[in-house]
Amino acid sequence: MENSGNPARPVISVLGLGHVGLPTALGFAEMGWEVIGADDDAGKVALIKSGKSPFFEPGLQPLLTKHLETGRFRLSESVGEAIRASQVVFVCVSTPQKEDGSADLSQVEAVARNIAQNLNGYKLVVSKSTVPAITGQWIRRTISRFAESYRRAAGASSKNGSFEFDVASNPEFLQEGKALENIFQPDRVVIGVETDQARRILETIYQPLKCPIVVVRISTAELVKHAANAFLATKISFVNMVADLCEAVGADVGEVAKGLGLDPRIGRQFLQAGIGFGGSCFPKDLRALIYMAEEHGVDCGILREVVRVNLRRTRLFVKKIQKALWVLRGKTIGIWGLAFKPDTDDIREAPSLKIVKELLGEGACVRLYDPKAMANVQRVLPESAAQVTYCQSAEEAARGAAALLLLTEWKEFRDVDLASVRSAMDVPLLIDGRNFLDPHAAIAAGFEYHCVGCAVATDGIK
Ligand code: UDX
Repeated sequence: MENSGNPARPVISVLGLGHVGLPTALGFAEMGWEVIGADDDAGKVALIKSGKSPFFEPGLQPLLTKHLETGRFRLSESVGEAIRASQVVFVCVSTPQKEDGSADLSQVEAVARNIAQNLNGYKLVVSKSTVPAITGQWIRRTISRFAESYRRAAGASSKNGSFEFDVASNPEFLQEGKALENIFQPDRVVIGVETDQARRILETIYQPLKCPIVVVRISTAELVKHAANAFLATKISFVNMVADLCEAVGADVGEVAKGLGLDPRIGRQFLQAGIGFGGSCFPKDLRALIYMAEEHGVDCGILREVVRVNLRRTRLFVKKIQKALWVLRGKTIGIWGLAFKPDTDDIREAPSLKIVKELLGEGACVRLYDPKAMANVQRVLPESAAQVTYCQSAEEAARGAAALLLLTEWKEFRDVDLASVRSAMDVPLLIDGRNFLDPHAAIAAGFEYHCVGCAVATDGIK
């Protein structure tokens, strides 16, 4: 692979082929660009090269098959080679959490050094990972410093002469389960740039999408991403607090959320009460933002509360189960849904797993079912094998149970025949952690039905 160097049709490399990188790479291929994907994990690269997506994301597998065939998406075993063969480098590596809550940027730094070592012409280095608001500056500094020292070490005759590069930030707003929808119909594309050349290249790349492009400075773009996640997480913790109030006074949080969300200044989305938010972004990004704010002496008290409310959700839910069942020790509990949300097999920071672990700690036995996340769950729960049964279907998970918990709102749970589920259970108790099922249907099927933030009971809707 060599850098073809045509600025009108830049070759794009995407470094890091996880939940952000792989959909992003295939999205660019679908938009007509030539894309090279690379990752340090050789096993993952080999799997993708063989045509298999390493995780479940709606629509991703067919797009991978399509663009391996069109040749617009190809894989490289070497990150350095992918950098050399491209003019625009999208950095999509992960930024995991350190013990103290701050973002671990070592993978971003390693990529910056790799870019410095492989500068063979102009490069635009675009950060897509969610990073603290000064990371762009560090990427620029790191590439400059290391490019200089590599050049000196290689001697004046080196082909790695003094090449220009730009740094940019183009935060992703991808929701797992909707990644391709978010890529092809984005509300906006945010690009943070320092030069006209960088702006022109990114505008060209995104031109096929015909959506608003917000052009700002790099640190602003980085902060937009953090602020968006923090605001959405705040909405969820807010509605969960309202749900607790609803339970206390006999109101219905679903109706409150509807009345609230119809005000366009508030909006209806992200007002779904339940067992709290999880996933790879909100919990981690909130902690990183709080850490960053405090480092700058900025009081982020609101966000600390958002985290605190969320941490209490799973404990409160287990209390609700205890209240309905009294003693948990020795009871069998069926669980519907384990992924942190539907349409993904991702279980990172899933509230469902915290609930399962608390139930196991209380001595209960669980029968687990999720349409996509079973393999991932089996990897993290092996030690509790005696108390855990892995099931193949929603019906099987309910068999012989003293209670059934709905923890992830997979669509298929709405299609299950509740009457036959009820007859397979020892006790017809259904606790809906996502307010997803129709309470009337559950009660008509003979269930005692509980949900979050509304006073629905056994014998009819109050
Ligand atoms: C999030 C952001 O939405 C996305 O823009 C960003 O790029 C990455 O982080 P994601 O983590 O994939 O995306 O999932 P999202 O759909 O935002 O849900 C996050 C969590 O909030 C889930 O656990 C979900 O169940 C929960 N949630 C969401 C609620 O509890 N109530 C709601 O109303 C919405």
